[in-house]
Amino acid sequence: MKASMVSAMEHISSILLSTLLFSLSVSTSTPEPIPAVWPEQFHSLLFMNRSGTLHQIDLWYDWPNGRNFNIIQYQLNEVVSYDLEWNNGTSFIYTLHPSDSHCEVEHLDVGILRPNWLDGATYLGQEQVDNFVCNVWEKVDFIVYYEDVLTRRPVKWVFYTVYTGNAGYTAHVMTFEVGAVLEDPKWQAPVYCFNQTEKEKSVSSLLESTTVRGDSFWSLMRGKANAAA
Ligand SMILES: *[C@@H]1O[C@H](CO)[C@@H](O)[C@H](O)[C@H]1NC(C)=O
Ligand SMILES: *[C@@H]1O[C@H](CO)[C@@H](O)[C@H](O)[C@H]1NC(C)=O
Ligand SMILES: *[C@@H]1O[C@H](CO)[C@@H](O)[C@H](O)[C@H]1NC(C)=O
Repeated sequence: MKASMVSAMEHISSILLSTLLFSLSVSTSTPEPIPAVWPEQFHSLLFMNRSGTLHQIDLWYDWPNGRNFNIIQYQLNEVVSYDLEWNNGTSFIYTLHPSDSHCEVEHLDVGILRPNWLDGATYLGQEQVDNFVCNVWEKVDFIVYYEDVLTRRPVKWVFYTVYTGNAGYTAHVMTFEVGAVLEDPKWQAPVYCFNQTEKEKSVSSLLESTTVRGDSFWSLMRGKANAAA
């Protein structure tokens, strides 16, 4: 081999080596993914499973108007439950069915979930979930959250409390309509919500309670998210 060719090859291999080292350093310094901030307004259908008790939540998240609505349909139960939450801490939990119409007004010391409520979550890596390749995060002692790698939409989350234990309380996201807003009149709680005294509920009492109804699930999430913030 001619000396000039050897030096040319040395030159090429040193270029290759430095390219390799450069790409290695780039890949090790790539920051870990963080969960997408929730859109300020969206509508979502959630398929929920709490230890085998199934229900569907029609969720209207509306941060600019300080309100969040969960319309809860338990499997084969004709009485629909409404959980209407305001950012000032007041929740109206009611039914409209003529055979069973009642309302509870609760006051919590935290507002609705903030769009960035997943800030500070710990990245756990990727996993195939519900047929989607997802990035997975955990907020200690509270939630495991799965987000589609391609679209960054939430796919699933599992919420843990003392009550749900290891099984957790699972939400599968069936639809996710960014920007959808429920019309104002639909946010009106029924008249029988307004002739009673509010129940003060502290987050800590909620977190310690051992019976969690589907309709207080969201309050619990708020409490946990607030405590972990
Ligand atoms: C609901 O969750 C339980 C575990 O808590 C599981 O055994 C069951 O298969 C789930 N059901 C559905 C329909 O996902
Ligand atoms: C919170 O806001 C809702 C909706 O405007 C209202 O009905 C409720 O009385 C308010 N609660 C408090 C404690 O001000
Ligand atoms: C509120 O009004 C409803 C319907 O009129 C009635 O059934 C209920 O007993 C009232 N509650 C209180 C606390 O007065």
